Amino acid sequence: MTARRRLLWMLACAALAVLVAGAAAVRWLNHLDEAPLPAQGTAPSTDPAVVERGAYLARVGNCIACHSAPGGAPLAGALAVQTPFGAIYSSNLTPDADTGLGLWTAEEFWRALHNGRSRDGRLLYPAFPYTSFTQLTREDSDALFAFLRSVPAVRQAPPAHELAFPANSQGALALWRALYFRPGSPPHDEAQPPQWNRGAYLVRAVAHCAACHTPRNALGGLRGSADLTGAWLPGGRWYAPSLVDPAEASLAAWPPEEAAALLASGVSRHGSVSGPMAEVVFTGLQYLDAGDLDAMVGYLRALEQRPARKAPVHAAPPAVLERGREVYAQHCAQCHGRQGEGRGGFVALAGRRAVTLEHADNLVQMLVHGGYSPATRGNPRPHGMPPFAQQLSDADMAAVLSYIRSAWGNQASAVNAMDIHRARERR
Ligand code: HEC
Ligand code: HEC
Ligand code: HEC
Repeated sequence: MTARRRLLWMLACAALAVLVAGAAAVRWLNHLDEAPLPAQGTAPSTDPAVVERGAYLARVGNCIACHSAPGGAPLAGALAVQTPFGAIYSSNLTPDADTGLGLWTAEEFWRALHNGRSRDGRLLYPAFPYTSFTQLTREDSDALFAFLRSVPAVRQAPPAHELAFPANSQGALALWRALYFRPGSPPHDEAQPPQWNRGAYLVRAVAHCAACHTPRNALGGLRGSADLTGAWLPGGRWYAPSLVDPAEASLAAWPPEEAAALLASGVSRHGSVSGPMAEVVFTGLQYLDAGDLDAMVGYLRALEQRPARKAPVHAAPPAVLERGREVYAQHCAQCHGRQGEGRGGFVALAGRRAVTLEHADNLVQMLVHGGYSPATRGNPRPHGMPPFAQQLSDADMAAVLSYIRSAWGNQASAVNAMDIHRARERR
């Protein structure tokens, strides 16, 4: 054997060893070698108190919203969850034996929430936010299971996921999980009072705020070091602002009752929710009981603040701002007030964080497509914001947004017509 061939041979052996070790590590990290679940598993509880508790968790945890398609039966799945890799359809969680959870045991259900694996062992996609639900307690998992097994069975298999290779392969998913997923446990800090711990559990495990408010890397893994610092949702239309930046959506400086009003009813003096956040409030947070709402608010207000460094503000040319002022007077002032102060129950735009966010994407969505706050017990008949896509040109929309971002003491950069054009294209 020549020296050259020997070297090649050694390199090939080394590569093979790395591959084998890598595959073993991926397997181990995915718990694929764990003992199979018992054949005779635990049946769901039928205790009405447990079922009711499960129903509550299913609301606050948004299981119902994500597992019900528009116009379809509740919890029968088939809602397309959009990801950067394609659409993933939610599963049928009703007790149908063939297409739902009818034959599942409490252990299998727990493994799905805790370790992201289906009854047959298949690795599940993290579009199902088990990266958060892994922190649920076994007791809450059992309550959710009891509730889900109590609803009417619906026979309906979800459509096949629309994913291209390699995203559609279990191997790629196993690798992803080896990199970004570890089964967790409920957040707990001895040094903190029970209320803080309860708030942490609600924010982290049940209501999975991080699924939208924490940025992800190129492979879709949550960036732990940037916890809750704000992120774009898939599709790039909406930006979920930082919950730890006082200039974005931190609640640290808000009086607790205003923060509670925002989360439970969707409106408060200094802000209102819209778009995907309005859905979170509508389908989930509005059902929080008083104690849990207080705990969540307390935890969010106590989060360590991490204000981000912002790009310098660049104003629009004076002619654009003048045009923006005219458009505002004609189309907006009747609701938002001449000085952006809000009129007759309509929201103020002066001094509003949502208006001066560095990223203007949400404003553009609101203006182009309109919006509603959610109808909640605390705000049963919300006002609507009309869409302006038909009435205003891209240039006029950019001008009016640039204007409201720099008038009345607001200080944020201009919006350009290209941003508006892109937002129009997106729907
Ligand atoms: C953001 C949307 C979303 C939310 C919220 C959500 N799910 Fe899911 N869930 C999904 C998707 C999508 C899948 C399918 C994943 C797959 O097929 O790989 C899924 C799958 C599952 C599965 C596996 C079913 C099977 O056949 O393997 C279970 C169990 C489940 N979800 C329960 C829940 C529960 C309980 C909650 C609330 C605590 C919940 N989900 C909240 C989107 C969601
Ligand atoms: C489905 C994705 C999603 C989830 C889950 C989510 N958010 Fe949001 N959130 C958004 C988006 C998008 C916005 C920006 C739109 C808006 O301001 O309403 C937002 C805005 C907010 C705001 C600012 C509202 C304002 O304008 O003053 C707060 C506060 C907030 N979210 C808190 C939370 C908390 C707390 C949770 C968990 C209980 C949570 N969010 C879960 C997407 C989400
Ligand atoms: C018929 C009354 C009405 C008119 C006219 C109107 N708005 Fe609104 N606007 C609303 C309501 C109601 C909301 C709150 C809706 C929500 O939170 O989803 C809102 C929300 C907004 C927001 C988002 C504030 C936030 O906290 O997220 C912006 C920005 C905004 N309007 C700008 C404008 C501009 C610019 C115009 C004129 C081109 C305009 N509005 C015209 C009623 C109106």
